[in-house]
Amino acid sequence: MTTTSVPTAPTTLSSCLREGTREQHSQAEGMEFIDGLVNGRLSREAYTALAVQQLAIYTALEAAGAQLRAAGADQGLVFDELTRVPAIESDLAFLLGADWAARVTFLPATQEYAQRLVACSSDLSLYAAHAYTRYLGDLSGGQVVKRMVQRHYGVPDEGVGFYDFPQIHKLKPFKDVYRERLDGLGLDDAQLAATVEEARVAFRLNQAVFAELGALHN
Ligand code: HEM
Repeated sequence: MTTTSVPTAPTTLSSCLREGTREQHSQAEGMEFIDGLVNGRLSREAYTALAVQQLAIYTALEAAGAQLRAAGADQGLVFDELTRVPAIESDLAFLLGADWAARVTFLPATQEYAQRLVACSSDLSLYAAHAYTRYLGDLSGGQVVKRMVQRHYGVPDEGVGFYDFPQIHKLKPFKDVYRERLDGLGLDDAQLAATVEEARVAFRLNQAVFAELGALHN
């Protein structure tokens, strides 16, 4: 008796993340707050409120990355080029004024998101799920958000630095390198499944923030 082997597509982490969050991505993209923001139905204040929430999210995400790197456990997945907190602070200084730090408040969904990031900060594969969801999103759809915010609400470059990656000259090859790093993490099947599941959690946490922002700004 002969056995025939059925060729199977390679299951890389990056392809599993993309496929495993495709549905969540279109849900997030279609949310009222995001759709309203990119189609000019909201306001500069709504954009500013999003930037404020991003401060809490990236502070926690980047603290997690720094912790993994300090422990020598980041496997090259933490890139200085991606660091967003200084850009968000500078955007907020422009949007809210020099006393911006005294004027920011974080929504309950944002606090929940930040807490989840703290809980993921000693596990590289869980961190990877969150970093993937945010950074690849910023390098992709984020670029659309930037253009639309500038077009519809007249926000100058000083207020959208979050979407600029001055140390990354070409976004597409950088995203390919990022995916290669994800694929090189060497996860077993169970870790891979847990990472995709955590990315779905990350999308849900983002959606919850957009829902709360939508209730305030739509
Ligand atoms: C206006 C809203 C959005 C638009 C127009 C948009 C658009 C896009 C596009 C065109 C890509 C594909 C880029 C590529 O293959 O190189 C992409 C990828 C991605 N987006 Fe979005 N996006 C939006 C919102 C979001 C949100 C809210 C998140 C998560 C919080 C997100 C996370 C991602 C991720 C993780 C990827 C990488 C997918 C992959 O290749 O694995 N996006 N987005």
